[in-house]
Amino acid sequence: MLLVIDSANIESIQDLAECFPVDGVTTNPAIITKEKKPFLPLLKEIQSIIGKERMLFVQVLQEYAEEMVKEAVYLKEEIGGNLYIKIPVTAEGIKAIKQLKQQGIRTLATAIYTPMQALVAAKAGADFVAPYVNRIDNLAGDGVQVVRDIVEAFDRCQLPCQVLAASFKNTQQVHGVGLAGVHGVTAGPKILKSLVEHPVTESNVKQFVEDWKLFYGEACDSVIHTQ
Ligand code: G3P
Repeated sequence: MLLVIDSANIESIQDLAECFPVDGVTTNPAIITKEKKPFLPLLKEIQSIIGKERMLFVQVLQEYAEEMVKEAVYLKEEIGGNLYIKIPVTAEGIKAIKQLKQQGIRTLATAIYTPMQALVAAKAGADFVAPYVNRIDNLAGDGVQVVRDIVEAFDRCQLPCQVLAASFKNTQQVHGVGLAGVHGVTAGPKILKSLVEHPVTESNVKQFVEDWKLFYGEACDSVIHTQ
C-alpha cells in the first residue's frame, strides 16, 4: 500500500521522508496556499527533499479542459520528475484526463465522492483516483465503503487505475480502506505518524530500558556501553 504525504509543509515533509517509508507527496491549492510561499519554488523544494523518483502530485486550477491541459503541460515542463497532475473529476476534468493520456502525461482524478466518478475517470485514462474518505463521511456517507466499491469495480472491470484514498481525520479510516484493498493512502503528517503510535508500545519501551538499567546499572544506557 502506497503511503503518501498530503502536505506542502517543508519541515513535515523532511521529517516524514526521513523516518517513514513514504512514496510521495500530494498537494492541492488549499495545501499550497497554507504555506504562504511562491508556488513553483515550493514544489521544487519538495521535490528536492523526496527525490525525483518519488511521486509528486500537483493540481491544476483551471475550470475548462483546454486550459487544464495547458497548465498540466506547463507543470510537467517546469517540474518534471515523477509528476502526476491532479484533475478534479468534473465533465471538463474528464475531457482533460483523456487528452493528457494521449499526450503521455499522468493524472490523478481528484475530489471523488462516488464509484461512478471513479469508473469514468479510470476509463478516461486516469492513473489514480482519489476518493475523499472523511468528506464523504461528513456528508453522512460511508467513505470506506465507497473506497471498497471502487477497488472492487476496478478489479472486476480490469481497469489499470489505482485508488489513492485521501481526506482522513483518523487512523480508523486508514485501517478501513487498507482492509478494503486500497492501493494507497495520502494523509496529513499527523495521521501518518499516528499509524505507528500506541501508548502501550511507549510504556513497553520505557519498561525494557528500566529493566536493563536495574541489572546493568545507570551507566549502561546502550548495549554499546554495556560490558
Ligand atoms: O488530497 C485531498 C485532501 O487534501 C482533502 O483532504 O483533509 O481537506 O478533507 P481534507
